Amino acid sequence: MTGKKTNNKYVSDHYSRQAKKDDFPARSVYKLKEIQQKLQIIKQGDKVLDLGCAPGSWTKFAGELVGEKGLVIGIDQKAISERFPTHVHIMTGDVIVLAEKDADDLAGLIGEGFHAVLSDMAPSTTGRKEVDAARSYYLCRAALTIAGKILEPGGFFVCKIFQGEDFNEFVNKVAGDFEQHKIFKPQSCRKESKEIYIIGLGKK
Ligand SMILES: C[S@@+](CC[C@H](N)C(=O)[O-])C[C@H]1O[C@@H](n2cnc3c(N)ncnc32)[C@H](O)[C@@H]1O
Repeated sequence: MTGKKTNNKYVSDHYSRQAKKDDFPARSVYKLKEIQQKLQIIKQGDKVLDLGCAPGSWTKFAGELVGEKGLVIGIDQKAISERFPTHVHIMTGDVIVLAEKDADDLAGLIGEGFHAVLSDMAPSTTGRKEVDAARSYYLCRAALTIAGKILEPGGFFVCKIFQGEDFNEFVNKVAGDFEQHKIFKPQSCRKESKEIYIIGLGKK
């Protein structure tokens, strides 16, 4: 390893190595771990929907938190090679398409009465911050639309967004749909990244 401890590359390497040690397919698991530690969103027996779940770290961690009496459904447009226990189900599909379904069709496809909807979705990036942020916002709106249809009252929403000009508009949307909201940047996020998490607590 090269670089000082304060060098962000070093920190990134630390989380990637730790993920390998802890047997998670991606370093992103530590972002959800920090959110969970702070807000205890997911409980034993919960039903959780994880949007943009590949390669499967959040899904695996959520599966551990809900236990075998709970249920986790992970959806991604990419196939996933990770193996999960039987209370964790993976579907391959486009969340944008799913968001266009009405509540009954969604319930038929993925179920209803979820306690938490998570979205760690990220668009393919172009390097142009405003384009990437606009694409991210589009995914966030789809995630919030789905949450509006399948989350039970009191439920939770965790959503990654790339900060850009639509950020405040999205925060206002979440604030309108939930009793409380929080904006949180986990320490395990790469410092140079514009990503941040908006968390809705208590669906109205
Ligand atoms: C940062 S990764 C998620 C990492 C995951 N939370 C984990 O811990 O393993 C972002 C994911 O969003 C997915 N994604 C982006 N747009 C999507 C869409 N429209 N529908 C489904 N998945 C999408 C990508 O395929 C990618 O796998």
